[in-house]
Order: sequence, then C-alpha cells, then structure tokens
Amino acid sequence: MGKFIIANWKMNMTNAGAKDFLDEFRPQTKNTVVICPPFTALTTVGAADGFAVGAQNMHYAENGAYTGEVSAEMLVELGVGYVLVGHSERRTKFVETDEFVINKAKAAISNEIVPVVCVGETKEEYQSGKTKDILSRQLSGLGQLDGEFIVAYEPVWAIGTGLVPTMEEIADIHVFIRGITKAPILYGGSVTDKNAGEIMAIPNVDGVLVGGAALCPNKFTGIINAAN
Ligand code: PGA
Repeated sequence: MGKFIIANWKMNMTNAGAKDFLDEFRPQTKNTVVICPPFTALTTVGAADGFAVGAQNMHYAENGAYTGEVSAEMLVELGVGYVLVGHSERRTKFVETDEFVINKAKAAISNEIVPVVCVGETKEEYQSGKTKDILSRQLSGLGQLDGEFIVAYEPVWAIGTGLVPTMEEIADIHVFIRGITKAPILYGGSVTDKNAGEIMAIPNVDGVLVGGAALCPNKFTGIINAAN
C-alpha cells in the first residue's frame, strides 16, 4: 500500500494565499497527497493537478436547518474526496462527541468521500497511562463503517507543540490500532520535513497528517519526498 500524506491547513490560507501556495507546489510522487484547505479555498485547491482535495469538516445531515454547516453532497459537488472528522480541535473547541464523529464518517462514506477519523489522547491522559483506553473508546464506532476510511492517530499534546512521541511509542500505538482496524493508520502531530522519513518508516504507519509544516510548499514537498 502507498502512503498518504495529508495536509490540514486549519483556519489558515485565504483563497489568494492558496493560489500562491499552488504556484510553488509541484509534488512528484506515487503516493497519495491530499490537501484539506478551508471551505473557501476548496474550489481553488480542487482545480489543481497531482493531488486530491479534502475538507476539514462536514455535517452528517443531508440538508436542513444547520446554519453554518456544509453537507457531504455539497463537498462532492466541489470534487472533494476526503474529509477530516473528529480532529481534536473539533472535539475540544466544538464539543464533538464520538457518536457525532462516527455519524459524520458514515455520511461521508455514503457519499463516496473517504473520512479520516482523527483520534488521540490529551497530555493528562498520556501522563496517566490512559492512551489505549482513550483510543479504544474513540475507535469503538469503527465497526459501524461500511466502506473505505482512514484513521489518524494524533496525540493532542503533540499537535502544534513541536513535541513528538518516541518512535517506539508511535510504533506501539500503531500496533495497538492495527489490532482494531485494517484501515490505513496515519500519524499526526508536529510532523516536519526533518522527522517525516523516520516516522513513515515505522511499521503500521501508513502516512502522516500535517498541520503547520503543510502551509509552506517547500516543507510540505520535503515531507512528501520523505515518503518516496
Ligand atoms: P501540526 O498539526 O502538524 O501543526 O502539529 C497536525 C494536526 O493538527 O493535524
């Protein structure tokens, strides 16, 4: 199986900023590259060649009275092939529950969008040795998914902090998740062009989910090249 290298731009990049990024970004790889820009840049990013476009969020309802939300059908219309669900920032800042996350993943699959189900423990949970309990709970709904999906393991304490678990810890957690699912399992949290090669060489690490380092075309290209 090839690797997945997925960019999560979060609430960064105007449409003009996305165009500037794309002017410099020419990935050369046999692996799967996905960029998840804000909704406002989906059309721009989706029109570029050489990689796929993903959304950072969606609602599970088909349509209706959900002010500010976007449905799977609306994303499909823009050529979106992937969607992040359950990113830790959504779970904490927007109070998304495991059930809500799994419902989004189901709706994505029904619309032939591949959901990237994000999971991970907080610093307190990590320090108290609860990581596997938390992951078991967050992944307990995967059995309800009937179709293609991806899991992204992102320790909350590693996101945007420059902190990364040891390679042994990443290996151990990915073996644990592999025991739960056969789906591709990505690592996310402070991935850079410096550590991506080492991380992607770990067994059961099928790629990376990249935040900050994916905002710079050169750095993101370095991460993509580390998988080649
Ligand atoms: P980071 O973010 O690479 O900036 O740590 C990763 C993420 O939140 O998906």
